Amino acid sequence: VRCGVSDEAPQAVPPQAVPPLGAGCCQVWWSRPAEDARLLGLLDDAERTRHRGFLREEDRARFLAGHALVRIVAASHAGVTPRAIRYAAGPPHSKPRFAGRAATFEVSLAHSAERVVVAISRGVELGVDVERVGAAGEEESLLESVLCADERRALGVLAQPLRAWAFCRYWTRKEAILKATGHGLSVEPTRIAVTPPTQPPALVSWSGPARPTQAVHVYDLEVEAGYAASLATIGDPLERCEHDGNALLSATR
Ligand SMILES: CC(C)(COP(=O)(O)OP(=O)(O)OC[C@H]1O[C@@H](n2cnc3c(N)ncnc32)[C@H](O)[C@@H]1OP(=O)(O)O)[C@@H](O)C(=O)NCCC(=O)NCCS
Repeated sequence: VRCGVSDEAPQAVPPQAVPPLGAGCCQVWWSRPAEDARLLGLLDDAERTRHRGFLREEDRARFLAGHALVRIVAASHAGVTPRAIRYAAGPPHSKPRFAGRAATFEVSLAHSAERVVVAISRGVELGVDVERVGAAGEEESLLESVLCADERRALGVLAQPLRAWAFCRYWTRKEAILKATGHGLSVEPTRIAVTPPTQPPALVSWSGPARPTQAVHVYDLEVEAGYAASLATIGDPLERCEHDGNALLSATR
C-alpha cells in the first residue's frame, strides 16, 4: 500500500511535547483509542480510507489513535509536519516503513482493546505488541498453533489462574519478534521459542528459514493489569522510555 503524499498546512504539536530520541533509545508511546475527529486531519488518504472501512467504532478509534500517534511522534523527530510523513510502498500486511525525511526512523504499532502503543527508534528494527489477557481457559484452543512443545509443557505446570496471562506473555514476546523482523504471522509462532513468561524475555530458538542473522533482543513492557506487552529489537539492544500518548493526542490541534 502506498500511502498518499501530502504537504498540507501544518498541524500544531505543542513544543517540547515529544522529547528528543537518542540513538541508543526507543520511545514507547501509550494511548487509549481516540474518537476525536480532528485527528483524522493528520492522516493521509489511504489511512482515511482504511479508517472508514472499519465496521466497529472501537476498531476505528484504535486505528485513529495509533496512526495519529505515529505521525505526531515521527514528525517531531524528523522535523516535518504530521501530514508530511510518508510511508514507503509495500505489500498489504507488511511492516510500516517511512519514506522521505522520516526514513531513518523505525516504527512499530499495536493495539488491543483499550491500549494503543507505538514504538520508535533511530534506525534499529523493532516490533511491539500489546494484547488483552483473555478469560481463563480461552487460550486452550490456541495452544497448538502458538506454542511449541516445551512452551506448552511450561504453561501446563502453572496454576490455572496464571495460564491466561502466561499465554498472553508468550504471545506478545513472539509477536513482537515477528513484527520486528517484518514477518508478522507469515511465520508460524510455533517456529520460534521464547523463554517462559516468569523468566526474563529472550528468543530461545527459531526453526526453519528466515531466522534473523543479527541478535534479537526481547523486553517486556509495563502495562496495566489485564494486558501483556512486549518489544523486540534486531541488532542493537535499546533503552526504553515510555511516554503518555494521550496527552500528546489531546494537545494536538
Ligand atoms: C503483523 C500482525 C501479526 C499484526 O497482528 P494484530 O495482532 O492483528 O495487530 P497488532 O495491533 O498487533 O498490530 C497491527 C499493526 O502491525 C503492523 N504490521 C502489519 N503487518 C506487519 C508486519 N508484517 N510486520 C510488522 N508490523 C506489521 C501495522 O502497523 C499494523 O497496524 P495497522 O493495521 O493499524 O496499520 C498481522 O497483521 C500479520 O501477521 N500480518 C502479516 C501476515 C499476513 O500476510 N497476513 C495476511 C492476513 S489476510
